[in-house]
Amino acid sequence: MRLKDKVAIVTGGSNGIGRESALLFAREGAKVAVADIDAIGGEETVRLIKEEGGEAFFTRTDVSSSEDVKNLVADTVDRFGHIHVLFNNAGIGNSPLTSVDMSEEEWDRVIDINLKSVFLGMKYAVPEMKKSGGGSIINTSSLLGLKGQKYLSPYNASKGGVIILTQNAALEYGKYGIRVNAIAPGVIDTKIIDGWKADERKWPIISRANALGRIGQPQEVANAVLFLASDEASFITGSTLSVDGGGLTF
Ligand SMILES: NC(=O)c1ccc[n+]([C@@H]2O[C@H](COP(=O)([O-])OP(=O)(O)OC[C@H]3O[C@@H](n4cnc5c(N)ncnc54)[C@H](O)[C@@H]3O)[C@@H](O)[C@H]2O)c1
Repeated sequence: MRLKDKVAIVTGGSNGIGRESALLFAREGAKVAVADIDAIGGEETVRLIKEEGGEAFFTRTDVSSSEDVKNLVADTVDRFGHIHVLFNNAGIGNSPLTSVDMSEEEWDRVIDINLKSVFLGMKYAVPEMKKSGGGSIINTSSLLGLKGQKYLSPYNASKGGVIILTQNAALEYGKYGIRVNAIAPGVIDTKIIDGWKADERKWPIISRANALGRIGQPQEVANAVLFLASDEASFITGSTLSVDGGGLTF
């Protein structure tokens, strides 16, 4: 078991990549705090973990709220005593608009949920990790944090910011045994891409735009997250791991 006796927080754990990662963490021995705004999905993730004999709880958390993230960390420590792994994964897309047409409200919302959330997660979890003698933080960026795409300016900016913030935190907290890495998934089969799937003209192109010629599954991303969370990645920090079927090189 690669996370035996570890305590992990997974944000965006109610669906998609977060749910699969929470399940995999639990299978590898971690106790998991599932955090999300979607309570129905979150309780289902917890049910699935318990069904397999694992330990987990759901806590409703808006990752863009300082108060919520502070409570998430405090609840996790109350329940499980420590925090060893933080997967900052919750995120949203944006309306397909040019940068000029994007409303200021939507710009702020996307940046708050995708980027400020990572700052908040680290702000409250790092002091607990220091007490535990170290930890592993994994932040979800995107292939679209490494290259721009039309009509996605706040998403691109937020995910690019996640990569640099990851490097910054790796430099700041390495001396405490805390590793900080990012993942950059390509097109993965979750509900965040429902809008793309519905586009009959573009979807056949988007869904094959990588070296493997297919979209990825959330389990394939979870495998990479588990690796970064575990001691197998003990000399890896500040890195961004592409999980994109070769999408960046395409
Ligand atoms: N699926 C892809 O193609 C893809 C590609 C690259 C990066 N990503 C990133 O992966 C992460 C997970 O997305 P996914 O693909 O599993 O999609 P998803 O929509 O299945 O999961 C996203 C989760 O985030 C939660 N969430 C949204 N706003 C929140 C908030 N304010 N507070 C707490 N939770 C919130 C949602 O309820 C949902 O459970 C996101 O950061 C996304 O940007 C996804």
